[in-house]
Amino acid sequence: MAFGLPCMNYFNHRSAELYAEDVAVRDLVRDLGTPLYIYSARTLRRHFRVMREAFRDTEVLVCFAMKALSNLSVLKLFADLGSGFDIVSGGELMRCMRAGADPRKIVFSGVGKTDEEIEAALRAGILMINAESRPELGRISAVAGRLGIQAPVSLRVNPDLDPGTHPHISTGHRDSKFGIPLAEVDHYYAEARTLPNLELVGLSTHIGSQITELAPFNEAADKVASIVKRLRANGIALKYLDLGGGLGIPYQEEPPPPSAYAHTLTGPLRDSGLKLIIEPGRVLVGNAGILVTRVLYVKETDAKRFIVIDGAMNDLIRPVLYEAYHEIRPVVARDGARILTADVVGPVCESGDFFARERDLPEVQSGDLLAVMSAGAYGFVMASNYNSRPRPAEVIVSGSNYLVVRERDTFEDIVRNEKLLAIPPGPDA
Ligand code: LLP
Repeated sequence: MAFGLPCMNYFNHRSAELYAEDVAVRDLVRDLGTPLYIYSARTLRRHFRVMREAFRDTEVLVCFAMKALSNLSVLKLFADLGSGFDIVSGGELMRCMRAGADPRKIVFSGVGKTDEEIEAALRAGILMINAESRPELGRISAVAGRLGIQAPVSLRVNPDLDPGTHPHISTGHRDSKFGIPLAEVDHYYAEARTLPNLELVGLSTHIGSQITELAPFNEAADKVASIVKRLRANGIALKYLDLGGGLGIPYQEEPPPPSAYAHTLTGPLRDSGLKLIIEPGRVLVGNAGILVTRVLYVKETDAKRFIVIDGAMNDLIRPVLYEAYHEIRPVVARDGARILTADVVGPVCESGDFFARERDLPEVQSGDLLAVMSAGAYGFVMASNYNSRPRPAEVIVSGSNYLVVRERDTFEDIVRNEKLLAIPPGPDA
């Protein structure tokens, strides 16, 4: 395999001990506590290069889907590598601009952009807005008119296919809220052409996330290729074709490597003459991050064994939200440990607060550290303060150094925007 497998990463056991690059995870925990998100800079850089290299025969702009991991320092790392960004909100725009992103490499996706967000994106001079509905096109036109500029716009097409992934992260089916219907694409372009202050520069699509087969990508590329041809025949010449993100990572199943993914996407589009944009999120950052937690208690009932850890669904919600599998490893492996079946659960007061169910794991004791692997994508970014728990710290390791890129929340952070007011008695008091 020319570019290696996507599962390649720099979290490895050296004899009994888990390392992040050249730093022992135990040392990071000693300094920073748990739960702790740890990212490997070398893995992040590697994955970006592998993805770009996979498309080396095509002119491609890689726009990191920053929703997957939006820490400012991670964004800067990608911006420094030349990455563009796929954003979905005004907040994401501000984040990536603060991190030094080139606005000419930003695409703005999402089904519900506000006037303020559209205006901010146009003022920043982003590459294009991926519009998803008639009313949205009208709004973009109006905002651009007010600013006295031409808004670069692409239309997001819903290719009506089944990407074979969890329903919550499947976006390319006709029942989904995303994109414009396949049958109406020509209409939309014709209509959009008549609106003032719009420059129709592209076509985009995104069919879903954690896709582990090539067939759905192939189907999407085929459908999009035929639309582009038809549009060109009707005098609509575009510049950019944005094929979204979605390539899966090996949580459990083995996804195709980026080289095969690139081949699948570019095949049908070879003669389109358009510049390709991709929006990978998970595949760039997923296994570049782990979440380290400490075992609080091992609790045995007559039904089950529970490993109660100090990480919870507020820190990583993927297991309960998507029935997602994350490998769990002891940070320090014990020689000859028995393998026991257990549920790995957090302290939050919900039965949905688990990281693993009926999992075979080496026997652990209170105080041991467990690493939840492949937690870099949609991990910290989906964390909350539920149960008034502080969100974890985030640290990036590079070689034998590490940098804390986000402090753990303090109690004051949690209550920062709240007011402690005496509510005046109402009429029924
Ligand atoms: N582009 C668009 C327009 C998207 O909506 C997404 C993800 C991506 C790109 C990046 O997709 P990726 O390469 O990461 O698959 N929270 C869920 C995943 C939600 C994905 C949402 N959209 C999870 O934890 O699995």
